[in-house]
Amino acid sequence: MAKLVRWGILSTGRIADRFTSDLKKAQGAEVVAVASRSFTRAEIFAAKHRIARAYGSYEELARDPEIDVIYIATPHNFHKEHTLLCLANGKHVLCEKPFAINAKEARQMTAYARERNLFLMEAMWSRFNPVYQRAMQWVNDGLIGEVRMLKADFGFRTAWQPEGRLLNPVLAGGSILDVAVYPLALASHLFGLKPVAIQALAHMGASGVDEQAGIVLKYANGQLAVLASAIRTRIPNQALILGSEGLIWLPVFWRARLAVLWRSKKMPRITWGAPGYQFEAAEVDSCLRQNRIESTVMPLAESIAITEIMDQVREMIGMQYPGE
Ligand SMILES: NC(=O)c1ccc[n+]([C@@H]2O[C@H](COP(=O)([O-])OP(=O)(O)OC[C@H]3O[C@@H](n4cnc5c(N)ncnc54)[C@H](OP(=O)(O)O)[C@@H]3O)[C@@H](O)[C@H]2O)c1
Repeated sequence: MAKLVRWGILSTGRIADRFTSDLKKAQGAEVVAVASRSFTRAEIFAAKHRIARAYGSYEELARDPEIDVIYIATPHNFHKEHTLLCLANGKHVLCEKPFAINAKEARQMTAYARERNLFLMEAMWSRFNPVYQRAMQWVNDGLIGEVRMLKADFGFRTAWQPEGRLLNPVLAGGSILDVAVYPLALASHLFGLKPVAIQALAHMGASGVDEQAGIVLKYANGQLAVLASAIRTRIPNQALILGSEGLIWLPVFWRARLAVLWRSKKMPRITWGAPGYQFEAAEVDSCLRQNRIESTVMPLAESIAITEIMDQVREMIGMQYPGE
């Protein structure tokens, strides 16, 4: 491992741009190359972020011997293909959420990373944000007693662009994979990987993907996760963690800036801070420097478990992708 961890960026889309900006705030990280399907887009991105090397294909990036880890930010349906490409070329990988479009793909990606002895993690960045971590510390310290229920949602109203990745079934569109993955990850963080029962309803829009969905998960000792997702409806994006002795409110929990703790007869407690992608990058950095091929904060078993739940939800609502 070089003194600085050398990052490559695979794709030049919206989130690749934000992640790369935040990576400059991460200690020990250096972005050395970017790739796009278009050399011109790679050059423009490289100039904006002052990146030394630009490639006009993802394969060239994967083959670059002077890269340690590659961040993958392509549409969901390419996560498996691009992860396997990078792993095959000896690169560690941070792959955007959702980890894969289904559990079969998630298992293949995990098995290959382990076989190649390379690091792999789903970029579930919310989990690494400081405010979220402090809220989970309140839970772990027992400040709200026994957690009995989670109510969480994530949604927005995207413009009607049926060719775009959010509404296009060919690009694995729909609210479950794009945004329900966040409340599902929060539920698994709080209650464990395996709910004992799952119920779901959704509205399928004209482009053939789930535009909004309601999901209820029940866990072994009666806890419930009541979740919602939407890509054509504005919803609050909040999480309420409800315990026997109080509750925690996380407005916009997936990029938490504020968390409030309420307990009866006690003053509310508030914590705040700025979210960012540098925190998940710091986890990658820390794992690589300790020669760990998996994060304990966002383990691969959990990414697989979340895709298993999404598989079941999609089966209930009739959302299948081409080629599945
Ligand atoms: N963690 C977060 O906060 C967050 C936020 C938004 C999105 N995401 C995730 O990041 C991934 C990308 O989302 P995004 O919003 O950045 O999408 P986007 O703006 O559409 O960018 C996706 C990029 O993927 C590349 N790509 C490769 N094949 C493509 C194809 N057939 N069609 C379209 N693009 C293709 C393109 O880059 P080139 O043209 O340069 O090859 C494109 O710019 C998704 O999986 C999403 O779930 C995460």
